[in-house]
Formats: sequence, C-alpha cells, structure tokens
Amino acid sequence: MTLLDVTASTTTTETTPTRTHDAVGTANTRVEGIAKVTGQARYAGDIPFAELAHGWLVLSTVARGRIRSIDAEPVLAMPGVLAVLHHENAPRLKPGVGLMGPDASTLLLQDDRVPYRGWPVALVVAETAEQARAAAEALVVTYEEEPHDVVFTAGHPGAYTPESSRFVQPDVERGDVEAELAASAVVVDEEYTTPEQYHNAMEPHAAMARWEDGRLEVVDSNQGSHAVAQLLAALFSLDGDSVRVRSEHVGGAFGSKGFNAHLILAVMAATQLDRPVRVVLTRRQMFSLVGYRPATAQRVRLGADADGRLRALDHESVSLSSALQQFVEASTRHSRALYGADALRVRTKVVPLDVGAPSFMRAPGWAPGSFAVESAMDELADKSGEDPIRLRVRNEPAVAPGSGLPFSSRNIIACYEEGARRFGWADRDPRPGTRRDGRWALGLGMAASAHSAGVAPATASITAEADGTFTVRIAAADIGTGARTALILIAADALAVPKESVRMKIADSDFGPAFLAGGSMGTTSWAWAITEAAVALSKKVVPGDPIPPEGIMARADTTELVGGREQRESLGFGAQFAEVAVDVATGEVRVRRMLGVFAVGRVVNPTTARSQLIGGMTWGLSMALHEEGVRDVASGGLANADLAAYHFASNADVPVIEADWVDDPDTYNPSGIKGLGEIGIVGGAAAIANAVWHATGVRQRHLPIRLDRVLMAGAASGGGA
Ligand code: MOS
Repeated sequence: MTLLDVTASTTTTETTPTRTHDAVGTANTRVEGIAKVTGQARYAGDIPFAELAHGWLVLSTVARGRIRSIDAEPVLAMPGVLAVLHHENAPRLKPGVGLMGPDASTLLLQDDRVPYRGWPVALVVAETAEQARAAAEALVVTYEEEPHDVVFTAGHPGAYTPESSRFVQPDVERGDVEAELAASAVVVDEEYTTPEQYHNAMEPHAAMARWEDGRLEVVDSNQGSHAVAQLLAALFSLDGDSVRVRSEHVGGAFGSKGFNAHLILAVMAATQLDRPVRVVLTRRQMFSLVGYRPATAQRVRLGADADGRLRALDHESVSLSSALQQFVEASTRHSRALYGADALRVRTKVVPLDVGAPSFMRAPGWAPGSFAVESAMDELADKSGEDPIRLRVRNEPAVAPGSGLPFSSRNIIACYEEGARRFGWADRDPRPGTRRDGRWALGLGMAASAHSAGVAPATASITAEADGTFTVRIAAADIGTGARTALILIAADALAVPKESVRMKIADSDFGPAFLAGGSMGTTSWAWAITEAAVALSKKVVPGDPIPPEGIMARADTTELVGGREQRESLGFGAQFAEVAVDVATGEVRVRRMLGVFAVGRVVNPTTARSQLIGGMTWGLSMALHEEGVRDVASGGLANADLAAYHFASNADVPVIEADWVDDPDTYNPSGIKGLGEIGIVGGAAAIANAVWHATGVRQRHLPIRLDRVLMAGAASGGGA
C-alpha cells in the first residue's frame, strides 16, 4: 500500500523479506474466476484477429512408410481454400528441437517419411475452419506402406537402456541384490503393468500465428511462453527477440502443452501466406499429437527379514517409446526415493516402436512407478504379516536411497499417522475378504506418495506504479492451477502490501525467461524470482519520494541463486487411503471414499492447493479403474481415440475425496513451497488396487482394474471373496 511498508519489510534481511503481511496461506478464489465462468476470459482458439485464416491438419492413415502422392489440385479448387502445405512446399526447418533437446517429432512436413499413424502429412488452410476441414477431409494422400511394429512387451528385442540425462536418472546398483534376496525370509517378485494413458485437457490445443512489424506473434495454449518462443526461434532460424508468444488462459495442460505440431504448422502457414493463421486440434487429433503416458511393464522384487525390514529392492521398468523420438517414463523415481534397503537395484529400459512420441503426463514416472512399488509393498505386508503402514515406517531411509543425498525434509510419517487416524485405519481387519455390504465385498487400502519438488531459474520484474499499486511481470503460466492467484499472494507478502495492490501479468515471452508450469516446479520457481524482484525494488524506491508517472521498475533473475545451492533431495510426500466395494458377480469396482494427506511445504492458497490435490487423486482413481489406450495392431493406431471409447472417471465414479496436509517446514527453498500439482496422482492407483485385494483377496497387478480382470481373478481363485 505504501512505499514505507515495502522498505520496512525488506530492510531486515537482504534476500528474505520479512513477511509483515500474510496473504500466503489464506484461502482465495481465482482472480480470473469470474472472467472464466462468464466467458470473458479468452483462450487461444477464441481470440478474434482480422484476416484470420484457419488451418486443418491432415494426418497419416498408415503407421509406417512413405508418402507417394498428395493430390492438392482438386482441394485447392474447393471454396475458400488458400493453401495446402506438405513436405514438397513447406518452409524448411532447422534440425528439430523440443523441450527435452533434439526432437525429430518437431520436424514436420520436411520429408516423405511417415513414422506413425496420425503423423501430420499436410495442413490445409482456408478462409473458415469449416472450409479447411472439408478440404482436409477431401485431400487424397497415397502411401508406400511398410510393415510396422506397435506391440509393446517387456521382452521386446528392441529394448535398450537409455542414456542418462536431465530427464533420465542413471541406473543404480548398490549392494548385492541377489545375495540379499537369497537371504530374505520373505520375497515378493511380481510384474505390474500400466497401459497407455491419454491427455485430454478441457481446452483442446490451439495456436494462432501472425507476422506483425517483423515479429512473429503467437497466441497459443501452452505451459511456458518463453520456452516455446525460444524453441520456435530455433526451429525457424529466427532471432529470439523476434518471437513473441502469449498464452494468457490455458484450460488444462498436464504436460501435454509444451511444443506441439499445430503451433509449428500455424507458424509455417502464417509465414507462407503472410496472414494470421490459427490451427485448433480436435479431440481425435489430440490422441496422436500431444503426447501420452506410455505403457509400462515393471518387475519389482522385494526381499525382507521376517519383521519386514527390507534387505533388497529391485525395480526394473520398461516403457513404450517411439522410434521417431525417445521418451523415457522414469518410473523408477519412486523406488529411488521411498524405501531404504540393504541392496538397491533400479533399471530403466525403453522399447522404441512405430508410434507417436509419448510425453510428460501428470507425475511422469512417479504415477506408474508408485503403482508397481506400492502394490509390491502391500504384497510384502501381507506376506510378512505386517501392517502396511508399519512396514513402510520400518523402512524409512536415512538419506535418499537412489542418490545418497540428504532430504531437504521428509515428513511422510506424519502423513501416515494423520491419514490413518482420519480414515479409521486402526479398525481394519488385516485379513482380506472379511467385510461385506450386501453384494459388495469391502476393502481398505493405502499407499505412499512422493513427487520431486524442484526449483528452476526464472526472471521477474515489479513496477511500483505512481498510483501506489504494483505490477508484476513474469512469463509464468496459469494452466488452470490458480498460479496467477498464488503469485499475487506471494508478491503481496514480498512487497508487504495488500493483495489488492498487486497486478499480475503472466504468460508473455517478452517478460523474459521463466521456467515452465511443469514438473511441479512452477510456483516455487516463480515465487523465488518475484520475491527477489521485491527486494530489488525496495532498494530503488526512496521512502517518501513520489513515484514518477512511468513508475519504478526492478528486475530479478534467480539463475545464480538456484545454481548456487547445496544438493538436496527435495520432495513432497503423502499417504493415500481408499475404500472400495467390489461386486464379485459383475466385477464392478466402486471407490467409496478416498483420503490423501500430504507434506508439501508451505501451502500458498489452500483453496486451489486442495483442488490440485483432489484433481490428482481423481486422476489416480481414473488410472486405477478406467484409463487405457488400446492399440489396434493391424492399423497401428488407437482403437479408442475419442472420449466415447477412452474411458475415464466421470462424476458418478468419483466419491467424496478429501485432501489435506500436515505442517512441513522446509527452508531449502526460501519460499518454503513444494510444488503440489502432481503428487495427488501418485499412489492413488496403488491404494485402490490394494483396497481391491483387501476386499477380494485377489491381487490386481495390471491397470486398469477392468470388470473382466476382476471376474477372471474371481474365477481363478474359486469365486472371489
Ligand atoms: Mo507436468 S507432466 O510436469 O507438465
């Protein structure tokens, strides 16, 4: 409110302003909520532009081969059609780049090669979207077909160990796993599988591109406007400053809105036609163009003493990848972080097939990895006659098992205790199949959750305005999480002003580098930059002096601060509990209640934090019972590439889900925040599968837990419970 407040709050320490105000921690609805529910908020597909042309994608109908011909002439004669872009006439691109480095899947319309079914082979541009669609559907493309391989198995001869990188942790071999297993009183050795799972954010992907005064201007739906601008510049051989990307409102992303084909093609068309061009994906197109969670097959071997103390933990994860572009589902992250064992072995492999590149999907690695490891721990609990929570507590590690680094904090036992108390865990009969409610067999299950809580460099600026307000500019993204609102609270406290005095401008690459809304690292990374910018501003503003009409601006860049920290294993933790009812005659599984208790650092906005956690848990339920992309072996595509056939949890499937958190002080990041966008899904499917075992006495090691799987298991075990 006043500049005196700013100075007073920041003179006590140079890098950590005292929080004289306390907006952080109070419950707030989204600042853009009214705009969203009244339709005022405009998304990338909604914003009108003069002279806007519309592009429609044409996707390959074969899974592997070469384009023989594209018959553009008849289509160019159709109403409104302006252009047909394809590999013979499209602008040339520099070697492909993507968020993870070199990326062949961004090299669109560069040659006649077809790497998978659903690969873009042309873009038809017309005056209206309807004309573009009609022409795209009329375009005749012929192919030289080659045999394809889309069948994922753990023992596929093409499986290989990927090189380690920022996204791929190196394999671990510590101690003698085989010797420890041989010396163990209790052993679990099982394979768990998870299927392909598909991205379907509420807002389908959309991008508009145009050239304005020598600059490429893009309005897109993405998770990081600055990163996308840099990638576009590299791909199109442009100067970084000559690209501007904005994405003010994003209707869900979950990892799918990075750097996608429709955007690259919109830029190509806008460049060639010198007109604004928009490309919007259909739901069906999303199934082949925006990434997905690959199938995994995971073997987990646990060896323990009679009292449940782990001697050996061996986790091998094999996941589906693409022959076009490697993607590694890092499912062993869970086993690297959760349990201490005398000997630890974690190995990661991928199987490249003729499919589109998988990509990040909420809690990549952690979500499928936790299903395997937390199911195996439940099996070990049963085999050793130990309570599942006590077994986990007994195997708490002193340092991170995979890296050997100390944890920045690890408050998981409080999550177990609080969750057990609230869920009524003490009343659970450890024997399976003992409770019924009419035709329903009832069971309780639990699992541990964890997710990395990292931080990455970001830049931010704050302007003290002449009217006493403050404008924050940061290339953050609010993908529906409430990040914009959270950052207002953080800025208000850093400036020691009421939140009403703060204006938050985000999602514009012109604001400078900032990490993506991804990896549960967004809010933490942006909060640090904003807090530093508040400190810098306090040094420029002289108390009592009037602010000039143009305001006073200060910037901060946290690159050095982030890079200069000691290494720690920084993670959020949690415990999930589920009660299920299983009809062993029909195979129907209903989740009756779920509870998640998390240790996720300092919670900025309880309203949206709870919504993130509940959203993640709901997805965990969906993963447990419904979601499965089914490959059609003959065509190489998906058999269920639409929302009619791709099942996911809807309202009637979702019971009361409660999410809460325990105190989790952690000063490794100055803000004390641990990102919580992803942890809600981690452990959810295992808690449900463990509850299904408790209800029926039969293990479900393959997701989703479909009716037929419950029925077959019931038959195998002589009628179930
Ligand atoms: Mo997320 S899968 O880190 O965007």
